[in-house]
Amino acid sequence: MGALIQMQGISKSYGPVHALEEVDLTVGEREIIGLLGDNGAGKSTLIKILSGAIPTSSGTIAIRGERVSINSTSDAISQGIETIYQDSALVPELSIARNLFLGREPLKGPAFLGWMDQGAMSEVARSLLKEVGIEKDIPPTTPIGSLSGGERQSVAIARAMYFDSELIILDEPTNNLGVAETQGVLRFVRNARDSGHSCIFIAHNIHHVFQVVDRIVVLRHGRVVADDIDPEQTSVEEVERIITGMEG
Ligand SMILES: Nc1ncnc2c1ncn2[C@@H]1O[C@H](COP(=O)(O)OP(=O)(O)OP(=O)(O)O)[C@@H](O)[C@H]1O
Ligand SMILES: [Mg+2]
Repeated sequence: MGALIQMQGISKSYGPVHALEEVDLTVGEREIIGLLGDNGAGKSTLIKILSGAIPTSSGTIAIRGERVSINSTSDAISQGIETIYQDSALVPELSIARNLFLGREPLKGPAFLGWMDQGAMSEVARSLLKEVGIEKDIPPTTPIGSLSGGERQSVAIARAMYFDSELIILDEPTNNLGVAETQGVLRFVRNARDSGHSCIFIAHNIHHVFQVVDRIVVLRHGRVVADDIDPEQTSVEEVERIITGMEG
């Protein structure tokens, strides 16, 4: 499997706090990685660096072997990296359709007028919402703010699918979701590989991670302490011991 993403020697300090120290992380093409670790282990910090939300203190990132600099979330998106948080980068006041296209709205009429093609956006939005399993017929003009947490999540997932991101990062996407919504997110991650995506999946529920990932990476106190755990060959208890550092 060729490497899609290679992060090397990534360190990040917040004043005296070493959030990450010399972290290496590789994500293969069509590989689903589970990133585990206790509270404060550095998981979110690592993926925020990859998604351009925060700068790294040192280290390098390469995509398909080519060194890249990711200085903003739009850099990351243009490199095919889409990140989904619980509250995601959605704008509550804007409609579902606008949120799907945020910054990439189709235009109509003379370009200098910058008129958005609302009809085209609504049409795409309607079919995408079906695809991600929103059964209810929610008009694409509905503001995001009036959707449930799970429905919002689905909109963020729909966006990642539509723009064909190569790497989809999910940081605790199932927090506060209902059972059916959680199953929807897990199904999405499981299917991501078949539709040609790679994923980094962060969740506190190890059982969820075990259900969907190819490989588990564990961070502890800002360092990688295991990076090739095969969920089919390893027990949940063993991984818990690695996470807490209580292994025998
Ligand atoms: N903006 C910040 N300023 C100062 N310290 C920070 C900041 N963001 C994170 N940290 C610290 O960096 C360390 C790693 O935090 P991070 O959010 O990456 O952990 P995490 O593994 O995602 O934890 P959780 O499972 O609780 O989400 C923690 O000690 C945290 O307090
Ligand atoms: Mg976190």
